[in-house]
Amino acid sequence: MKFFLDTANLDELKKGASWGIVDGVTTNPTLIAKEGRPIEEQIRLICDIVDGDISAEVVSTETSAMIEEGKRLARIHKNIVVKCPLTRDGIRATAALSKSGIRVNVTLCFTAGQALLAAKAGAYIISPFVGRLDDVGYTGMDLVRSITQIYKNYNFKTQVLAASLRSPTHVIDSALAGAHIGTMPFKVLDMLFNHPLTDKGLDQFLKDYAKAFQETPVAG
Ligand code: G3P
Repeated sequence: MKFFLDTANLDELKKGASWGIVDGVTTNPTLIAKEGRPIEEQIRLICDIVDGDISAEVVSTETSAMIEEGKRLARIHKNIVVKCPLTRDGIRATAALSKSGIRVNVTLCFTAGQALLAAKAGAYIISPFVGRLDDVGYTGMDLVRSITQIYKNYNFKTQVLAASLRSPTHVIDSALAGAHIGTMPFKVLDMLFNHPLTDKGLDQFLKDYAKAFQETPVAG
């Protein structure tokens, strides 16, 4: 499974990228707004940090405006994936942009039926929102499972990107469900490292090693 960071924060992206395990980035208008720079500028800076798919979302809501905006965003860098919302206009824009060779990530997916629409429109990525479904009393991960199964049944090439992941367990369950990509906040990526037995074991190894060498008489 590819790991994407779900953030537009440059410090978080630099730190994540330095670990050598970040395959791409997803942003949305909320995440861009938090950083305070115009989207084109922020996305360009992100492309300088991470060499992988970088999702940039349109804020237009009508098909022809989405297409224009999508084309403008795609011109920023070769790694840009244009994000369109799962609305009628968004699916129309997805079909048009995909036909013209621009890769589209269809976002705000909450049902398997919506995911079928995105795949049929030629989307490069579908983004089911796991955490937001959990928030309203559904099991978000069931949606990821259903979509991966349906796409397999019909050999759709659209990649399933598990989004709105809120915990390491969400990441693991996405991988078990067969998601191609998991996008997560920096905090969740960081938490994936943690286990008390790793810390305890390393501490013991270092103590044993230091003790052995302190006690070994120096030759010569
Ligand atoms: O970028 C879309 C998605 O990952 C947002 O997550 O936590 O705001 O539901 P969240």
